[in-house]
Amino acid sequence: MERTFVMIKPDGVQRNLIGKIISRFEDKGYRIVAMKLMQVTRDLAERHYEEHRGKPFFESLIDYITSGPVVVMVLEGKDVVAGVRKMNGATNPAEAAPGTIRGDYALDIGRNVIHGADSVESAQREISIYFKEEELLNYEKVT
Ligand code: CMP
Repeated sequence: MERTFVMIKPDGVQRNLIGKIISRFEDKGYRIVAMKLMQVTRDLAERHYEEHRGKPFFESLIDYITSGPVVVMVLEGKDVVAGVRKMNGATNPAEAAPGTIRGDYALDIGRNVIHGADSVESAQREISIYFKEEELLNYEKVT
């Protein structure tokens, strides 16, 4: 089953949006297979956002992601990578549709509340940066 990597960024945690955001993914039917609250180090943030190194917003992105605790999780489900990207909405909240997480909860591209991996390959890479293999739980959904 497909898996993706999701992060509720420091602004989402500070604004008490953790529960609301997780509820959306649970309501959709995705299964949480790993989750933790953590402080991201500079080293970890730079590895995560390696592809953006050199871009004008890279330093502010690293400062933002390391500015306070984040919630990282691995979600599992049919076409979950694309599904989560749709639920998150456009990267720039000004362009994100109402009903999406960024459309409903964010205004600024530099404070866009949530991250979701952009492909199955990115998801695998990001999951391996933030989680150890034994932190990914396999369990049956009983309902
Ligand atoms: P995310 O989905 O985490 O992927 C890369 C992040 O870089 C993005 O969300 C934004 O937080 C940030 N980002 C992308 N473009 C810009 C920009 N033009 N200015 C500031 N931050 C940006």
